[in-house]
Amino acid sequence: ADVVRVALLGCGAVGGGVLQLLQDQPELFEVGPVLVKQPRDAKPGEFTHHLDEALAGEPELLVELIGGNDLAADAMHQALSRGAEVVTGNKAALARHWDSLHACAARHGGGLRFSAAVGGGAPIVETLRRLEGEVASVEGVMNGTCNFLLSRLGEGWEFDRALAVAQELGFAEADPSGDVDGNDAADKLSILVREAFGVALPPQQIAKQSLRDLAPSAAAEAKQRGEVLKQVGRCWLGEDGSPLAEVRVVALPASHALANVHNEENRFLVEDRAGNLHQVHGKGAGRWPTATAVLADVLDARAAILRKAKPARSPLKLSA
Ligand code: HSE
Repeated sequence: ADVVRVALLGCGAVGGGVLQLLQDQPELFEVGPVLVKQPRDAKPGEFTHHLDEALAGEPELLVELIGGNDLAADAMHQALSRGAEVVTGNKAALARHWDSLHACAARHGGGLRFSAAVGGGAPIVETLRRLEGEVASVEGVMNGTCNFLLSRLGEGWEFDRALAVAQELGFAEADPSGDVDGNDAADKLSILVREAFGVALPPQQIAKQSLRDLAPSAAAEAKQRGEVLKQVGRCWLGEDGSPLAEVRVVALPASHALANVHNEENRFLVEDRAGNLHQVHGKGAGRWPTATAVLADVLDARAAILRKAKPARSPLKLSA
């Protein structure tokens, strides 16, 4: 049978959605015990707190959605070292362990897929790959939590209430300061710099501005001026060819292409070297948009696993 053995790490907003999508297709996927941080009521063997148990049984595919950094990277290295395929939505781990994860995948013939890590359902990674070598700059609204927060602040909501709702809706990270302080956008920019320019720019070297530094009335005042506040991430190449990036909160006129991006949506403006602007838009956070993007990678990984298991037949030799 063509059932692929999957190890799933994480069962939060996105992981829980992916688990459901995998369990809905038992003819395609068999899911081992899911690694979770919090205890939960479930059938024996459905969840585990131990990475070793989650990775037991030689899974052919690891889906890493547990967040955090070192444990996630360790699990991905372990799987890739066995030649398994890996799908992740973990921007922080990917931005920090990019070189070693890619090297490990290349050495052992596995695949590393992460299209959900930036843009969620907006295909920004795919767009940059199609424009390989042609990208001049990328800017965008790339954190759904901050976008949701700024929209609500413009309507007069209190900051903490807006953040609590963003968490309930499953947009925010487990530690929402990663969103609010610009770290999530910096992690995403670090990945976009790799895809756009093929060079490294660690997230720690990216300048960030926190939403918490805004005056409480800033969003409402911008609205009165006919502007909107947006957290915008940008990356480009400096004159010496080195990559530059920043995360800023800016006031945009209502007519700006990034002004009309609502709630958890993301939008990216990619300028190519000929000066053309490519817009990429979609839902950037939340369970189903992100889980669906992960599933697309999972299906690509499954196809790669099946190709390895059943190499294409060589053409028949005709005897003379
Ligand atoms: N916390 C992230 C956001 C999730 O709000 O955009 C998607 O990467």
